[in-house]
Amino acid sequence: MFSTAFLDIPALQGASGTVTLPGSKSISNRVLLLSALCQGTTVVHDLLDSDDTRVMLAALRQLGCGVQVDGTTVTITGLGGRAWPTEAIEFFMGNAGTAMRPLTAALAVQGGDFTLKGVPRMHERPIGDLVDALRELGCSIDYLGNDGYPPLRVRQPTLRLDKPIPVRGDVSSQFLTALLMALPLAAQDRAITIEVVGELISKPYIEITLNLLARYGIAVERQGWESFFIPAGSRYQSPGSIHVEADASSASYFIALGAIANGSGIRIQGVGADSIQGDIRFMDAAAQMGAQITSGPNWLEIQRGAWPLKGITLDCNHIPDAAMTLAVMALYADGPTTLRNIASWRVKETDRIVAMATESRKLGATVEEGPDWITIHPLPTGKWQSASIHTYDDHRVAMCFSLAAFNADQIPVRIEDPKCVAKTFPDYFEALFSVAYTAAHNIPVICIDGPTASGKGTLASRVAAALGYNYLDSGALYRVTAHAALQAGLTLEAADEAAIAALARHLPVRFEGEQVLLSNVDVTDAIRSEQGGMNASKVSVLPAVREALVQLQHSFQRLPGLLADGRDMGTVIFPNAPLKVFLTASAAKRAERRHKQLILKGFSANIESLRADLEARDARDMSRSVAPLKPAQDALQLDNSSLTIEASVEQVMVWWQSRQVFG
Ligand code: DC
Repeated sequence: MFSTAFLDIPALQGASGTVTLPGSKSISNRVLLLSALCQGTTVVHDLLDSDDTRVMLAALRQLGCGVQVDGTTVTITGLGGRAWPTEAIEFFMGNAGTAMRPLTAALAVQGGDFTLKGVPRMHERPIGDLVDALRELGCSIDYLGNDGYPPLRVRQPTLRLDKPIPVRGDVSSQFLTALLMALPLAAQDRAITIEVVGELISKPYIEITLNLLARYGIAVERQGWESFFIPAGSRYQSPGSIHVEADASSASYFIALGAIANGSGIRIQGVGADSIQGDIRFMDAAAQMGAQITSGPNWLEIQRGAWPLKGITLDCNHIPDAAMTLAVMALYADGPTTLRNIASWRVKETDRIVAMATESRKLGATVEEGPDWITIHPLPTGKWQSASIHTYDDHRVAMCFSLAAFNADQIPVRIEDPKCVAKTFPDYFEALFSVAYTAAHNIPVICIDGPTASGKGTLASRVAAALGYNYLDSGALYRVTAHAALQAGLTLEAADEAAIAALARHLPVRFEGEQVLLSNVDVTDAIRSEQGGMNASKVSVLPAVREALVQLQHSFQRLPGLLADGRDMGTVIFPNAPLKVFLTASAAKRAERRHKQLILKGFSANIESLRADLEARDARDMSRSVAPLKPAQDALQLDNSSLTIEASVEQVMVWWQSRQVFG
């Protein structure tokens, strides 16, 4: 997840492969509760792992449900046909609205002795409309704090189901959802009617509820959006197994990607054409523009069809969120695209009509807009401009414009505040980069080298974090190679050069944050010791070993960019890197820093001898015949003797920014 102020997306050339999208929150918690109310076992696949679902799972366990979690697959053994708990139970609902509301309704209808509490914020979230409706039908619910708010105490009801149950629909559709999911419990021998008071908001969410109820054997009938009937004899029936769909609006970016990008196609795992989410209809619009889409249960496959895409005119009222993605597809079309009936764009996270128009114009596009429509003209080759895309704290603006990186002019795109995608899709850019590809020369590399203890590792990893780039600690590769060689019983001398090189060529090394794993064993501490450094120094003078590690080092040059730290990064491994930094500090300063480090770690150390060691090592490193320590010809020197690490990072960022095309 990017924590950067901006993310520069290199010009992209194609995309192929599979993305698995996170499960929808609203579907996850509905499915859990319905599975719990069934008789028998339901295997729930692709459950979203979030605070809200954890709260629900904990509550279901307390009720006596069987809950077995295996990654994103959860097996629920329902309460149907089993004894309903009679002992007093206190539930902690955290701040999970999607758990609190439906669970309250189910518990109140079924009855018992239950207390439902949450975090302080939960006790400020209104639940009065739901409690009123439940009391109307004979449930016994008391407020333990303020009237209208949790915490609540639920007791045994005396149900009166002969007349319609009124519920307000204009505050939160979750109240109606809660009743719809709970009342089948009471509909064994009589039909039940719910009447919505006020204009029902968020109808697509009620559709999701009705769809899921149908999957669990409850066929609710409705008259418009005012009356809902639960037929007599309704009984929850487990579907056996059920997939939680991925968020359909998140899927729109990858549907568009498949339509725009060269390659062998994109497969989206987690949502299919039969999705119960309204936004899935985006796929029809994308197909109209040229996407070739096939679908199965829980998956979509998209390929480029018509190219350029076809400009369309479309009423987008039914897919307000996903329709933004069409605006970016329009840049790749053969004629203008007009999206109509999108007045709601003006009142979302930001005024999305203004945002999409302004940012598209920055890229060079001609855009017309009206109160509830937008027309985007395609951008031909030669007309694309480099742009820094402002994202207005709107996740969808950020995700949409990432797709501009496929432009024919091969210009990179800067996305400001990329972390705003966390609202719905924290790993969006990681998912994009896992399927997108481009030529190596489009993926920027920054090389940082310098003498031992100059702080290059710290500097390189900080700059990598600031840019959202990958990080290659090439010294660690030599350290791991030496470690592996010793483990294999080899010496680190020239006599074993070929054998060490053979090991290095297929080094089973993996980096996980600060950790270094060799064949899945954590070797971080072993290789970071002084001895580890000395061993690395020995194998690093063997030319065959250096040659054997070239390919592995090149493989770190992945989207969106790379910080490469070490000896020959700028001279041998990435000679065309657009920025090379040679970091120095006086021997006295480096000795002082190392001394501090050692003391902090609890070792005793002497500054004078540390300094002598460093100077001797510098002399050796500079005069050795294989990969001597020397700045690349085009390297910028940075003496950080009197700079803080922050100031050094700042300097490298200034150098980097001055080489970028963004305004
Ligand atoms: O940067 P470091 O201390 O982890 O490096 C360990 C040894 O490996 C050091 O002697 C320099 C050598 N090395 C090298 O020869 N080439 C590199 N690209 C990186 C490190």
